[in-house]
Amino acid sequence: MPNSYLKIFENNAKWIQEKLGEDADFFKKLASGQKPEYLYIGCADSRVTAEELMGMKPGEVFVHRNIANIVNTLDMNSTAVIQYAVEHLKVKHIIICGHYGCGGVKAAMTPQDLGLLNPWLRLIRDVYRLHQKELDAIENEHERYNKLVELNVQEQCINVIKMAAVQERYILEEYPLVHGWVFDLETGKLIDLEIDFENILKDIQKVYDLTNSEWVMNRKK
Ligand code: CO
Repeated sequence: MPNSYLKIFENNAKWIQEKLGEDADFFKKLASGQKPEYLYIGCADSRVTAEELMGMKPGEVFVHRNIANIVNTLDMNSTAVIQYAVEHLKVKHIIICGHYGCGGVKAAMTPQDLGLLNPWLRLIRDVYRLHQKELDAIENEHERYNKLVELNVQEQCINVIKMAAVQERYILEEYPLVHGWVFDLETGKLIDLEIDFENILKDIQKVYDLTNSEWVMNRKK
């Protein structure tokens, strides 16, 4: 139906009325600025709706979504989002949220040439390679797939923790904390993978310590 998109404008008009019904100043407040406590990095999958599944309202979450919730230092998009969220919005929590049934993760498990998607999916194949022993030991393909979804979340959390902006602000203010979650499409549940942020940070700082700059040292005093 070529005009099916028009329903979106009808929905929008209804939504405006709903919001004004709850609070006559809703849009005045919305326009006055944002101070979200959370940065959510999730998959672009249409079924995994960041704010809705978390019960969050406009202004409460800064959101970045891409195929298979990847954080990569060479991707200017996710890097800029994290930098901005940490340095300017001063978010307290960074959430990486993957989901079971992720098409991106599935594609990365399939030996197939997918053209322009190859370099992106390779970032997930790299996660597989890092954890190949553990993954190959899982006989059931469905379980192996779920495990890769979880390990991908964990590795993307590590990629966030590697960033200087995150390490520096954590040392100065004990925030942001990094969380790894998985959304289960079959039950609607959010599962906390209980990523050990503190220990991962300690561990990776042996290699990725970016906090010894004079700037941090001076501000720590
Ligand atoms: Co996905």
